[in-house]
Amino acid sequence: MNAAVLQKTNSLATTPGPCPVITTERLMLRPHRIGDASAIAESLGDFKVSRMLSRVPQPYDRQDAFDWLVPHASGLLPDWTLAITTGDDIHIGVVGLEPRNGQWRLGYWLNRIYWDRGYMTEAVAGTLERFFRRMPETQVFSGAFADNLASLNVQKKLGFRIIDANQIFSMSRNRMVPHIETMLLPEDFRRPARP
Ligand SMILES: CC(C)(COP(=O)(O)OP(=O)(O)OC[C@H]1O[C@@H](n2cnc3c(N)ncnc32)[C@H](O)[C@@H]1OP(=O)(O)O)[C@@H](O)C(=O)NCCC(=O)NCCS
Repeated sequence: MNAAVLQKTNSLATTPGPCPVITTERLMLRPHRIGDASAIAESLGDFKVSRMLSRVPQPYDRQDAFDWLVPHASGLLPDWTLAITTGDDIHIGVVGLEPRNGQWRLGYWLNRIYWDRGYMTEAVAGTLERFFRRMPETQVFSGAFADNLASLNVQKKLGFRIIDANQIFSMSRNRMVPHIETMLLPEDFRRPARP
C-alpha cells in the first residue's frame, strides 16, 4: 500500500464502505477496471470536457488514464469512483466521492456524446442516494467553474447550495479560473423527476 493511500485511509473516522454497483432507471454505475483506460482517454482527450475539470492535463492520453486508474481500480482507496455505463458495460463517464481535507467532495464528468440527456443528474442522484444511506449525517461538498452552467444546474437540481466563490487552477486551461463552491446537506437532497 503506498503512502498516499495509507494517509487517505487513516484520516477518516468513518467511510461509506466498498464502492458499490448502482443501477438507476437508465444507467449502471460500477467500480472501475484497468480495462477502462481507452474509453477514459478518449473522453478526457476532448478539451470541451477537460476544460471544466481542474486536475486533467491536456493533451490527455492512455498513459494518463492508466496512472489515474491504478489507485482508483485497486479497491484500496476509501473513495467511491464509479464508472458510468448505459448498461452495455462501456465506460462513458465518472461520478466520484472522495475525502479531501476532512470533507467528502463530489466530482463528475461525461463523454460529450452523452451530454444533455439528463444522464449526469440521474447518475449523481443515484450515487448520493446510496452514499447518504451509508453516511446519513455527512455533508457533501462540490463546485464548478463559474462558466460551467450545465454542472451548476445539475447540482442545483439535486439541492446543492452555493457557499463561496474563489479561483482554482485548471491544468487543461493552464490558468486560474473563477470557481463556485457548493455544499449539499443530507436533508436538502432531492431526486429530480426523470427528464
Ligand atoms: C456537466 C456535465 C456532467 C453535465 O452532464 P449532463 O448529463 O449533460 O447533465 P444533465 O443533462 O443531467 O443536466 C444538465 C442541465 O444543465 C442544463 N444545461 C446544459 N447546458 C447548459 C448551458 N450551457 N447553460 C445553462 N444550462 C445548461 C441542461 O438543460 C440540464 O438542465 P435541465 O435538466 O433543467 O434541462 C457534462 O456537461 C460534462 O461532463 N461536462 C464536462 C465536465 C464537467 O463539467 N464536469 C463537472 C465539473 S464541476
